[in-house]
Amino acid sequence: MTAAPVRDTVLVTTIEELRTRRAALPGTVAVVMTMGALHAGHLALVARAREVADHVILTDFVNPLQFGPGEDFTAYPRDLEADLAAVDGQVDLVLAPSTEEMYPVLPPTVSVSAGAAGRVLEGAARPGHFDGVVTVVTKLLQITAPDVAVFGQKDAQQLAILRRLVADLNLPVRIEAVPIQREGTGLARSSRNAYLSTDGRAQALALSRAIAAAELAAPSLGAVQAALETARQDSAVAWDYALAVDPVTLAPVGPEHRGETLVVLAGYVEGTRLLDAAVVSVTAA
Ligand code: PAF
Repeated sequence: MTAAPVRDTVLVTTIEELRTRRAALPGTVAVVMTMGALHAGHLALVARAREVADHVILTDFVNPLQFGPGEDFTAYPRDLEADLAAVDGQVDLVLAPSTEEMYPVLPPTVSVSAGAAGRVLEGAARPGHFDGVVTVVTKLLQITAPDVAVFGQKDAQQLAILRRLVADLNLPVRIEAVPIQREGTGLARSSRNAYLSTDGRAQALALSRAIAAAELAAPSLGAVQAALETARQDSAVAWDYALAVDPVTLAPVGPEHRGETLVVLAGYVEGTRLLDAAVVSVTAA
């Protein structure tokens, strides 16, 4: 399907109005969920959404449930005007609800659990984060009732957990994954890059270098793991993990593992937590 023509973008702030307007959209609908601070990575999600559906809803909501105490919920960049300008004419509806609209009671009395996969990797560093993500995503899917939900592969663990959410709860939506968007330097695009100084951005390239080395080392699992071990020696990043994991269970793979393998990295540069990821195919020890 080719990209739909440019359309009028309408800003909606209430769930009721969103439901009314969504019901009036003929044909298929794709949703792109964001926390705002839109950058080229988000625009790639919007572009993909336009290719796979007749209409696009973008949600712009900084979800308090997925931030832990001491995380950057209050400082998280918010600029609705800039976000609207970035997607004007590219999406049909922008849902930007208040916290009270989304959570009349906070924390909600009923919420969704991401299970064991939500407690490893990012979940180990950020307890409760993925429970907050799956709760808001479930709500936004109920509100927007899309045929397709488009997510980025950069948040690889989030994507894996959302695939499980949709499968385990039989949610009537197809998940469409979009490859990581990178700057010319290789740095994975992220709203959090805004926190980095020029030096920090240069130091952060250790993550994309590690990904490139792991990709080059495939299809040998041993070589991929050796490349990740070498990457962890780079002191420009305060590494949390650099691992080859099973793409479904997210558990580190054993020496017998073959097939699709997720390479996941996380570390801090100038106090900002950065992520990178790649899917590689492993066919040898
Ligand atoms: O990926 C994000 O930006 C968020 O986790 C999401 C999916 C919009 C839920 O708040």
